Amino acid sequence: TQPQPWSQRFESALHPAIARFNASIGFDIRLIEYDLTGSQAHAKMLAKTGIISPEEGERLIQGLEQIRQEYRQGRFSPGIDAEDVHFAVERRLTELVGDVGKKLHTARSRNDQVGTDIRLYLRAEIDQIQQQLRQWQRTLLEVATPHVETLIPGYTHLQRAQPLSLAHHLLAYVEMAERDWQRLAQLRQRVNVSPLGAGALAGTTFPIDRHYSAQLLGFAEPYRNSLDAVSDRDFAIEFLCAASLIMVHLSRLAEEVILWASEEFAFIQLTDTCATGSSIMPQKKNPDVPELVRGKTGRVFGHLQALLVVMKGLPLAYNKDLQEDKEAIFDAVDTVTACLEAMTILMAQGIVFQPQRLAAAVNSDFANATDVADYLASKGVPFREAYNLVGRVVKTCLEQGKFLKDLTLQEWQALHPAFENDIYERIAPQQVVAARNSYGGTGFAQVRMALEEARRRLNDF
Ligand code: ARG
Repeated sequence: TQPQPWSQRFESALHPAIARFNASIGFDIRLIEYDLTGSQAHAKMLAKTGIISPEEGERLIQGLEQIRQEYRQGRFSPGIDAEDVHFAVERRLTELVGDVGKKLHTARSRNDQVGTDIRLYLRAEIDQIQQQLRQWQRTLLEVATPHVETLIPGYTHLQRAQPLSLAHHLLAYVEMAERDWQRLAQLRQRVNVSPLGAGALAGTTFPIDRHYSAQLLGFAEPYRNSLDAVSDRDFAIEFLCAASLIMVHLSRLAEEVILWASEEFAFIQLTDTCATGSSIMPQKKNPDVPELVRGKTGRVFGHLQALLVVMKGLPLAYNKDLQEDKEAIFDAVDTVTACLEAMTILMAQGIVFQPQRLAAAVNSDFANATDVADYLASKGVPFREAYNLVGRVVKTCLEQGKFLKDLTLQEWQALHPAFENDIYERIAPQQVVAARNSYGGTGFAQVRMALEEARRRLNDF
């Protein structure tokens, strides 16, 4: 076994099981490109400030670049004995460039180093997820566009409430994704701060230039407090929170897709490219994709909860508990990325709305009852009185197996003299939806404006 990478104060090697338990190389290798970039910036700063010579700086930077090539070509795969990606890189660097490699860790600790790596990583992933969210919004918009006048029952308590424009329903998810995008944009600012040069916890005796290394790495500024810099994981928790909300939104639509695909609703059919079959029931076509999205939502919530609990009792500054942040973040990134991709494909080509089923649904319910009450109210009947009257009408219709549209004009007028022939037009589902023309409502004119507005907003990106 190789000697442990830390100081000579240790006499014997780690117990092999403890070495495995302690090591993070199995998962933090994923940070290697950011570790190399961070180390190159650090080396450049050391040379600029005269802490090492320009030639030494150049050799370090070159050596680190060589490791990058080795890694990309699959020739660098350090084992458990390296403990973590930071030690692995430093060890390989010294093999490649000789003793000067041992100068890289001047004025630095793994604590500020790992903080730098994870922020560089997360910043890149946030950018990528933001792009995916835009793609998701564009897809929803495309699906919604031809369906302004396609009606779908609207529900509260999962009971038929009032009919909706299908485009309006889909646009609600465009709005949720918009806030998800904004949340990422805002938390990105808090991710984009440099802990590099905070040292182990207290700063360093060397005349480093933290603003310079921050700038090299594209960070907006260095952390102001070295203790905070190495022990802060707020940014990671914020990310997990934003990721959780993205999952909440995807999961709600996933749930609707699952309902819609059931025989009871049958508002959509799943295409063969996005549905799966049963091993025993030959007739089945299962919505596995939205089910998995709904199911995977749980693990992202779990990571958020896990990191909150990891942090709550930690005294300042670094504690090894913080190593637990990585798998949570990595898995949340993988899950959100995969779910956004799958839902985008599902929405773009996995579902086919069934116009006859939708039309049959909106034409055979009492979701126009509010409009009868509104009709009377607009003719001067106090709304509550009108509401009570319509309630009685619905009751009678239910007893007689009729819908409101089946009542004759005489029947209407027997209920209230204010009813005239135009009541039929007013309670036709198309008109019921069109009439909800208040700002943000489902009226066709509003929905067309909303589509236009969303399209403009998305084109700006
Ligand atoms: N692998 C460690 C982590 O992920 C790197 C930092 C270790 N620092 C330390 N003082 N042991 O957190």
